[in-house]
Amino acid sequence: MPSDDHHGRSGQSALRSVRDDSARGTLATMSRLLVVHHSPTPTVRVLTDAVIAGAHDDEIEGVEVVVREALEARADDVLGADGYLFGTTANFGYMSGALKHFFDTIFLEAGGALADDGSAVAASGGKKPYGLWVHGRYDTTGAVRSVQSIVGALPWVQAAGVLEVLGDVTDEHEAAAYELGGTLAALLS
Ligand SMILES: Cc1cc2nc3c(=O)[nH]c(=O)nc-3n(C[C@H](O)[C@H](O)[C@H](O)COP(=O)(O)O)c2cc1C
Repeated sequence: MPSDDHHGRSGQSALRSVRDDSARGTLATMSRLLVVHHSPTPTVRVLTDAVIAGAHDDEIEGVEVVVREALEARADDVLGADGYLFGTTANFGYMSGALKHFFDTIFLEAGGALADDGSAVAASGGKKPYGLWVHGRYDTTGAVRSVQSIVGALPWVQAAGVLEVLGDVTDEHEAAAYELGGTLAALLS
């Protein structure tokens, strides 16, 4: 499915709003945005770099951006963050094993709970914003669903449309990835 159908318009307006309001000045406190990604190929890395660049947009102030490869991220990283960006390839109709390992590792400490049958229990409590991008070659539907089924059981809320990209990364995809990064950072500024 083309990524352009899935850009979060509400998120984009959040970034625009911060740009419009930039004259109001900076906030005293720093927020932290955690970027957790699995980017195994140059193609995916282009998207990831654009997301990270967007999160560092010059017009966004008061946000520290912490970037972790999925196999390196720890629960402390999650607990210390105010918002999240997740990036993964689509593999076998699911998220990458690396990002799944991340969620397996941090789920309970991040506020998730399991039912007696091992399924995730619906989250309650705080609602930290998160965003997601997924790159695939054929179909990213299952990969997106797999992430959402887990993060939906954490006290987080999707704050921008999922960016799904199939095949080669175009300038439009890069711009959408930049916008995604900027949107999440803007929400924390
Ligand atoms: C084992 C394996 C499984 C894959 N499964 C999917 C899949 O289910 N859906 C999909 O769209 N792409 C799938 N792909 C393609 C990868 O998502 C793709 O290779 C990755 O995003 C990197 O993109 P690139 O190969 O264009 O650099 C798979 C690739 C591999 C190696």
